Amino acid sequence: MEPSIATSIGQIQLDKPVMLASGILGISLDVFNRLYRSGVGAVVTKSLSTEPWDGYPNPTIFSVKGGGWINAVGLSNPGAYNFAKMIEPNQEVPIVVSLVGSVPEDFDTMIKQFKNCKVIAYELNLSCPHVAKVGLEVGDDPKLVKEIVSTVKNATNVPIVAKVGLGTTHYLNTVGTAIESGIDAITAINTVRAMAIDAETQRPILSNKFGGLSGTPIKPIALRCVYEISSKYDIPIIGCGGISTWEDAVEFFLAGASAVQLGSAVSDDWLEVFDQINNGIIQYMKKKNYSTIKEMVGLAQKS
Ligand SMILES: Cc1cc2nc3c(=O)[nH]c(=O)nc-3n(C[C@H](O)[C@H](O)[C@H](O)COP(=O)(O)O)c2cc1C
Repeated sequence: MEPSIATSIGQIQLDKPVMLASGILGISLDVFNRLYRSGVGAVVTKSLSTEPWDGYPNPTIFSVKGGGWINAVGLSNPGAYNFAKMIEPNQEVPIVVSLVGSVPEDFDTMIKQFKNCKVIAYELNLSCPHVAKVGLEVGDDPKLVKEIVSTVKNATNVPIVAKVGLGTTHYLNTVGTAIESGIDAITAINTVRAMAIDAETQRPILSNKFGGLSGTPIKPIALRCVYEISSKYDIPIIGCGGISTWEDAVEFFLAGASAVQLGSAVSDDWLEVFDQINNGIIQYMKKKNYSTIKEMVGLAQKS
């Protein structure tokens, strides 16, 4: 029998285990639907705020020699309300709405705007490394994390995922606080704070000076984080960071992830990459005699 690549991340059920990471292809439903026909399990929207944000001036993205990107887009987005209006009641593609804010009320306001929309989960961005007063600055504050997660849990029955990253508070403590406050799953990790300087002009290249490193260079870090979270906590995990092949995806399952997200790799061949990875996972499962993804999750934890 053909192995099944359907997976569950707690209560979130996906037919396919590879998702689109937040911020990579914006919020176009046409693009999201096209990805769905090309093998994506679910899409995560660009992080949305209560009001539209312009983001930073250019340059906002820089290609790193040897692989990866540093970006400081600045969370430019049209605002939660404007995206909520776009969602069709009968839309096919499973959508995870990513939310960013500074205080619990921001999240409460936004969740209310999606009340009548088909959303499979909310992903709280507690980890953007280059915008003040949101993202990592929130994730680094345990009291705020607790208040935000509790507020969101009270506001909706839709599953809530916390996206963590590497800030000044140990990310495992942020994960622990989010779990105590009722989070349903964790996405690990966001980009890693980084910068680029031009030797000739002797200035930082990005307008914001600092940005977030993504792509292949962060894969071993992300894999380590998934492994550590899975060793310490009993919580469903979505792996993210530098994944570009089926082997990468399998490594994240073995470390403890039940699904993965693709960000930077989508820029190479966005319409092929999801099915390529799905097919590679199926071939691997046949070779190893697995019939479900679950059989692989966390296997690398066994000594
Ligand atoms: C241009 C760009 C924009 C991003 N915007 C967001 C965002 O709005 N919210 C968020 O949580 N993560 C955002 N990210 C982070 C990605 O979702 C992902 O966590 C990160 O890029 C690591 O995955 P990757 O190595 O596969 O790219 C962004 C990444 C890039 C490259």
